[in-house]
Amino acid sequence: MEIGILDAGQARQRIPELALILQDCVAKGASVSFMNPFSLAEAIGYFTDIAEAAAREEVVLFAAVENGRAVGTVQLHPTWKPNQPHRGEIAKMLVHSAHRKQGIGQKLLESVELEAKKRGYSLLTLDTASGDAERLYARIGYKMVGIIPNYALWPDGGYCDAVFYYKLIDG
Ligand SMILES: CC(C)(COP(=O)(O)OP(=O)(O)OC[C@H]1O[C@@H](n2cnc3c(N)ncnc32)[C@H](O)[C@@H]1OP(=O)(O)O)[C@@H](O)C(=O)NCCC(=O)NCCS
Repeated sequence: MEIGILDAGQARQRIPELALILQDCVAKGASVSFMNPFSLAEAIGYFTDIAEAAAREEVVLFAAVENGRAVGTVQLHPTWKPNQPHRGEIAKMLVHSAHRKQGIGQKLLESVELEAKKRGYSLLTLDTASGDAERLYARIGYKMVGIIPNYALWPDGGYCDAVFYYKLIDG
C-alpha cells in the first residue's frame, strides 16, 4: 500500500476509484456531506470538482493505493484567508469499508501532517461525526475542542453532532 499526493492528471485518472470509495462510505452510514441514495454519478461529480480544485492548488488530494487501485483518500485544504497562512484543514478522510482497520487511515493522516509541515503550517483543524475517526485523531495527538449538536444529517436521516479537533504541529 502506498500513499501519495495526486497531481491534477493523476487525480482526474483516479476519479472513478475515489468516487467508489465515497459512495461506499456514504452507503455504510458515514456523514460526509451526502445523503442516501447517493449515486456513483454524484460521487464522480464531486471528485471531478475536487480534481479541478487540486489542479488550481486549492486542495491537496491524497490517495492510498493498493494493487494499483485507490482504497482510501483524504484532503488537505490550505486556507485561502490571508490571515491564516499557517493553518490547514483536513477533510473527507475516507477508507473503503473492505480495507479498514489495517492502519490506512492513520497512514493517510501521517502523510497529511508531513505535507503540512513541509508547507510550513503550524496548525491542522478538522471536524468529524465519526466515532472511528475520533479514536484515530485522539490516538495521534489531535485535541478535541467541543461538539456542535445537530450540525449535519446522517446519510439516512436524523441529526448528527460534529466534533471539532485541532493539532499544533510546529514543535
Ligand atoms: C475513519 C476511517 C477513515 C478510519 O480508517 P481506517 O483505515 O480503518 O483507520 P485505521 O486502520 O488507521 O484505524 C482504525 C482501527 O483499526 C486498528 N488497526 C490498525 N491497524 C490494524 C491491524 N493491522 N490489525 C487490526 N487492527 C488494526 C486501529 O488501531 C484502529 O482501532 P480503533 O478502532 O480502536 O480506533 C474509516 O473508518 C472510514 O472511512 N470511515 C467512514 C468515513 C468517515 O467517517 N471518515 C471520517 C470523516 S472525518
